[in-house]
Amino acid sequence: MDDPILRIEGLSAQFDTPEGAAKAVRDVSLTLRRGTTLALTGESGAGKTSIGLALLNLLPYPGRITAGRVLFNGTDILALPPEEMRQLRGREIAMVFQDPVTSLNPVLSVGAQVEEIITAHLPVTKREARDRSLKVLAQMGLPEPQEVARSYPFHLSGGMAQRVMIAIATALNPKVLIADEPTSALDVTVQAAILDDLRQLQRLSGTSILLISHDLGVVAQMADEVAVMYAGSIVEFGDVRTVFQRPRHPYTWALLRSRPRWDREQTRPLPAIRGSPPNLMELSAECPYLPRCPKATSVCRTQPAPALAELEPGHSAACYNPIYASEADTGFD
Ligand SMILES: Nc1ncnc2c1ncn2[C@@H]1O[C@H](COP(=O)(O)OP(=O)(O)OP(=O)(O)O)[C@@H](O)[C@H]1O
Ligand SMILES: [Mg+2]
Repeated sequence: MDDPILRIEGLSAQFDTPEGAAKAVRDVSLTLRRGTTLALTGESGAGKTSIGLALLNLLPYPGRITAGRVLFNGTDILALPPEEMRQLRGREIAMVFQDPVTSLNPVLSVGAQVEEIITAHLPVTKREARDRSLKVLAQMGLPEPQEVARSYPFHLSGGMAQRVMIAIATALNPKVLIADEPTSALDVTVQAAILDDLRQLQRLSGTSILLISHDLGVVAQMADEVAVMYAGSIVEFGDVRTVFQRPRHPYTWALLRSRPRWDREQTRPLPAIRGSPPNLMELSAECPYLPRCPKATSVCRTQPAPALAELEPGHSAACYNPIYASEADTGFD
């Protein structure tokens, strides 16, 4: 199971705004193993979506990649000619974008939009495209696929729109699915059903999933491994159980402690993480979490930001003072 399908190596990206360069992705390296789910999590603005977009070369202006490679089955896809990248997108690597409703075309029926991606990539007749589109809609838990296919995006509930987006993304059976907050705007029941469908799809098709989510509950349910992002970099990485039960980076620990617990009576206010994330235009060489970190010592104040380092096999953190197991009770089981 150590078989990488997607490797991100030293990826950096920034947005060149009139106010300065916002360093949204800073030297990120990650491996997605075949058939598994890797989650990217962290607070709003940490750079999660930027990674997803960058690896398909879809960063919107004024964003650009400044360093790094993205290897898909060993090929550096960022170096591909635009036409080959277009072929690969959708067919081999597909993305479910963060905002489902605005990424659907409002003047095309749902069926037409699913058929469009099929006919753009496969030598099929209109009829075959139609059959296949109904199949993928049904597969994504849309019970009346014919009816859904005839409807327009504004007819759809949030949950249905999100299912349609996932159906479009998975219509060609991509090997890698990037799912950016696939359920974040939805109520809990709809969310659970969609996550089930995604897992089912993964079981049936062996799809490898890069799941982007700020929701730690979703990450815990779905992912095999998790990368925690802070200010454009990965501060902790490991398998989900290990990271969630025994986080080593103080930021991960604070995130886990501040999540709402529906399963426990709230007897005291939630411990929010004090302070706010740094301005990505004004990052210095020091650890970006330093101003918020309760564990900071003089090493942290005098040394440049620590690199991500393996603390035990498969578990790494970027911290001079990693948390000890005895301190790390997160309440996760
Ligand atoms: N279009 C843009 N123009 C300028 N800066 C941008 C733009 N999009 C993103 N950024 C910068 O990149 C940073 C990372 O944004 P990104 O959308 O990747 O974060 P995220 O982790 O996906 O957040 P969220 O959880 O809110 O979706 C932002 O904090 C912002 O500074
Ligand atoms: Mg995002």
